[in-house]
Amino acid sequence: MLDQSDYQRIETRLGKDHLEKRLQNQVRRAAKLYTIGGLSFFHPKNAKRFHLLLKLFFQALGVFRRGQMNCLDYRPEEVPVALKRLPGAFREFRVLQLSDLHADGIPDTGVRLRNLLQGIECDLCVITGDFRFDTYSEYLAAMTTTKNIVSAVKATHGIFGVLGNHDYIEFVPELEKAGIQLLLNESIRIEKGGRSLLLAGVDDPHMYRLHDLKKALHDRRNGEISLLLSHTPEIYSQAEEAGVDYLLCGHTHGGQICLPGRKAIISNAFCPRRYCAGLWRYRNMWGYTSRGTGSSGLAVRYFCPPEITLHILS
Ligand SMILES: [Fe+2]
Repeated sequence: MLDQSDYQRIETRLGKDHLEKRLQNQVRRAAKLYTIGGLSFFHPKNAKRFHLLLKLFFQALGVFRRGQMNCLDYRPEEVPVALKRLPGAFREFRVLQLSDLHADGIPDTGVRLRNLLQGIECDLCVITGDFRFDTYSEYLAAMTTTKNIVSAVKATHGIFGVLGNHDYIEFVPELEKAGIQLLLNESIRIEKGGRSLLLAGVDDPHMYRLHDLKKALHDRRNGEISLLLSHTPEIYSQAEEAGVDYLLCGHTHGGQICLPGRKAIISNAFCPRRYCAGLWRYRNMWGYTSRGTGSSGLAVRYFCPPEITLHILS
């Protein structure tokens, strides 16, 4: 539970306008739950019914349990990425990315993930949003499990993250207490061997649409290389225009429930499919969209295993 001083601290960082819009939006979306669902298929009440039907469907096929277990089949993905302007001091710099933890929905409460993370050495860890399973409701379990998971991360330059469409602004103090510094249209500078790299992050562009690239990149020095964290790839063209070198994002879950060959049925993002999973390039910018470390909606995965991503910069 946040007190007045927590909100004041967040307001100082975000600005009054941003915080007001965030809170109003959160309340408006939660209030929808207490109104009649109507005929909209995408109303939250109908989404719950849809997930129940989906569960019954997979149970009838005899593959539901398998789908749940697939959520724990974490695949380590090593991604070498050649960034033109990368200073020599950052060659072989290792960036661990976790995305879409949806922590309170992990079938084993994060035990296997934690064990895997204990064996990974990295220079920096980034978490690209969606800490909670639902888009509303209580969040204590999500915060507790997230804290437990990130306590296993060993990252020389720290852990940074952005909020996704499942996250409330109230998560910020809790996550920062757990050692995850949130970038809310903000940036920090990573220094190594006398050179620097700007790590910027934006507030959720998908549902809350409160991303501000200009503000996030405000502190970039002339010619400085920049990595941008965004929950979703949907801002790919704006990020490229803003001169971002590498965009790290998630949100799509790679489809989560796919056809053989990792062919997503639904991408849940307003952008071309080629930007919805894995490494991609748009004009002068590289991008990577994680298939997600956790799962949401109905916590099952088919032909789309969750991932722990290690970006090796060169
Ligand atoms: Fe997600």
